[in-house]
Amino acid sequence: MEYTELNEWQCKRRQMLLAGGAALTGSLWPKVSLAELGEEFPHGFLWGAATAGHQVEGGNINSDSWLLENMQPTLFDEPSGDACDHYNRFDQDISMLSDLGLNTFRFSIEWSRVEPEAGQFSRAQIDHYRRVLESCQRYGVRSMVTFNHFTTPRWFAGLGGWENPESSWLFARYCDWVTRHLGEWMNYATTLNEPNLTQLLFCIPGYELTKLGTIKDQEIIRKAGTRVGTGRFSSWIFGDLEQVHQGLLQAHQAGYEAIKAVRPELPVGVSIAMEDDQPVGPGAMAMLERKRRLSYLPWFEMVQKHGDFLGVQAYSRARIGARGRLPPQAGYPLTDMGYEFYPEAVEGVIRYTHGHVKIPLYVTENGVATMDDTRRVDYIRRAVSGVARCLAAGIDVRGYIHWSLLDNFEWLDGYRPHFGLVAVDHRTFQRHIKPSATYLGEIARQNRVLVVPRSA
Ligand code: BGC
Repeated sequence: MEYTELNEWQCKRRQMLLAGGAALTGSLWPKVSLAELGEEFPHGFLWGAATAGHQVEGGNINSDSWLLENMQPTLFDEPSGDACDHYNRFDQDISMLSDLGLNTFRFSIEWSRVEPEAGQFSRAQIDHYRRVLESCQRYGVRSMVTFNHFTTPRWFAGLGGWENPESSWLFARYCDWVTRHLGEWMNYATTLNEPNLTQLLFCIPGYELTKLGTIKDQEIIRKAGTRVGTGRFSSWIFGDLEQVHQGLLQAHQAGYEAIKAVRPELPVGVSIAMEDDQPVGPGAMAMLERKRRLSYLPWFEMVQKHGDFLGVQAYSRARIGARGRLPPQAGYPLTDMGYEFYPEAVEGVIRYTHGHVKIPLYVTENGVATMDDTRRVDYIRRAVSGVARCLAAGIDVRGYIHWSLLDNFEWLDGYRPHFGLVAVDHRTFQRHIKPSATYLGEIARQNRVLVVPRSA
């Protein structure tokens, strides 16, 4: 079979997408013979793209992040505003994802919409997310639902966020309510997104010199406390890092139990942030082990006891010297986030994790910030080839979910970094499919790595 047939198929898809209102700019792929296809992935492998509520929906005004973005001083380059208007355009986005050939959509439910005040749950917002899940079913896409992707309701942050001893109970109450109303529609769930991020970033020296290092800024946290009216504020990476981490560990366990109590057969896990840690020079191993001990091991232990799978998320490697994190290697290609362009990271973290965790693994995020989509194609090819090598080595990896479906709100960096498979015009909200989206969709359809020339 020649790739030409796929091109014909792609043309049909293109017509369908255009009919659906999406503007395509992606080029078609050059001919690739079957000989250039890699080994087949296991039947049922998840191929998907991910989003997070706050980063794509728009107008998430009741969240802690909205407050921090719109305050002075702020660490955010710009506010999230309307984001990608995914709140209104989810159906088109899910249909597009499916038309591309992907079979899984990872997205998050916004706690601040569903529970706008403590203990007050919104049926209208639950109906909204039910419609999102219905769209997934309609387009034959499996859903992987994140119950919390960084942002929390303002009232929760005002009670001390994850530092509040009641936080795990509050989170479990929200998980229980959501699962009662939406659980039957979900295919997979994760409690928290990257709850170990603070440890990953700050547990060894080296990050405090970057913009992220200023997150401990007490003035911002104090002002936010005044704005929420409680004098207290803690959220996400704005708070006492160690206490937040401990709170999140407890919250995962409580959330996991709450979800499973309502829907025991639903696979529930957690997604953690990882880097491919590499020692550089003498004495580096002790520092590297410290990072692993503080940022990954507590989660490996937790998810083995309270979890059905582990989501691993990796973007690059971390070079670690005897004194801490090192800057990128001189002359090494960088992404638009300023870290190294290193697609092999995902293979490294899967292999390392497999040594510690004996439940199934899913890559729940992996991607690259770049304006040059040929780099994204290259990144995907190398990353997915790494996943294929892990499978060949007998590791139980069950999915690859790319970050991100859309060019979205990249937290402190606003809309500057472009992680999307699909570009978004933030004035008209028009979507433009990039070649990398078509490429990943074809991989999914073939269930194999497609070896494309670099110039594609
Ligand atoms: C987060 C996403 C973020 C992505 C790219 C991950 O750490 O889960 O929310 O946009 O990395 O930086």
